[in-house]
Amino acid sequence: MFILGIESSCDETAASVVEACPDGRLRILSNIIASQIDLHSRYGGVVPEIASRAHTEAISRITYDALECAGITTDKLDAVGVTYTPGLIGALLVGVNFAKALALSNNIPLVGVNHIKAHAAANWLVPVKPGSPVEMRMQTELEYIPPALSEKSPALAFIASGGHTSILELHSPVDYKTIGHTRDDAMGEAFDKIGRVLGLPYPGGEALDRLAADFYVSGVQPSFKLPSAAIDDGTLDFSFSGIKTSVLDRVNSLRQKGQEPDHAEFAAALTTSIVSSVIRKLDIALDRTSADILLAAGGATANSHLRSGLIQLTQRRGIELYIPPLWLCGDNGAMVAAQAYFELLNGNFSDASLNGTATGTSEL
Ligand code: KG4
Ligand code: ZN
Repeated sequence: MFILGIESSCDETAASVVEACPDGRLRILSNIIASQIDLHSRYGGVVPEIASRAHTEAISRITYDALECAGITTDKLDAVGVTYTPGLIGALLVGVNFAKALALSNNIPLVGVNHIKAHAAANWLVPVKPGSPVEMRMQTELEYIPPALSEKSPALAFIASGGHTSILELHSPVDYKTIGHTRDDAMGEAFDKIGRVLGLPYPGGEALDRLAADFYVSGVQPSFKLPSAAIDDGTLDFSFSGIKTSVLDRVNSLRQKGQEPDHAEFAAALTTSIVSSVIRKLDIALDRTSADILLAAGGATANSHLRSGLIQLTQRRGIELYIPPLWLCGDNGAMVAAQAYFELLNGNFSDASLNGTATGTSEL
């Protein structure tokens, strides 16, 4: 069974063909991503209108590249999956309308996919063998064994990207319940906004990750602490905006004195605060749900310090951890195809009325 996954919810136009094998493995046959970072970086963030235009220009080429790279034609496809929510409405509509036209004109089933579930579904993908036409690295940090969910023991998922930060309980790859989320900025957004305050190129997440590593290697602690993002009210919710304000105040007061902030020290203080906040909330969530599997996913889970924190947390608790390899953390079409496969198994088809939805019904 061959599934085409199309993603255009934010600033990546992506398409991928995934093969659902008879043994249940989901093999990536192609994974094409056109990033718009260069277009948005001069504005320090994603400009929705520019994003929609760039998706419109790229979607046809990216999709046919994905088919060609996988070595198949549209008549061999068994389904077309597309992200329909949540995201930027103009950007979503490009993917949804393209997928709709492709599916309906070729008489292929269409599946609308929730972007947050799709991120988690990246954990079920099998990297292809080295030497395939797709440029891929094998998963190195953890040996690949697909997560086995059961009715008895739910899994917990932590999804953190530039637009979302959620803790979810799941009983199956289609059956999710949100039990915690950010009340303001997303985790990746916090990294990006603080990166901008420090004058780092957009998006700041990756650069701050490296800067924090440089600082930690010195063995010295940052000379200040940033506020926690773990809201202390018994919920599993986060607030990242207080960290941003605190950084802004500190940076402004240094600059008023003619001093430039030590980027590495700020990166370390920020990372320490974010990672400990996430681990604290996940610890509570694990106590409450008695989940014995933790799935992490989303662009911000590429953060090396968070990955170490998650490994330590799950080792301490004796539970299983799944995180996609770095190249599957950010937005991609393969995760959309994987989630489309699970939706198909549950009879969740879409029809010509499928529409993009920025938020609202995107709640899980
Ligand atoms: O999942 P994604 O590609 O797009 C959305 O769905 O939003 O996530 C992009 C986000 C950006 O905010 C970026 O700064 C963040 O992921 N990110 C990182 C790292 N790599 C990417 N954040 C922290 N550390 C990283 N290494
Ligand atoms: Zn995403």
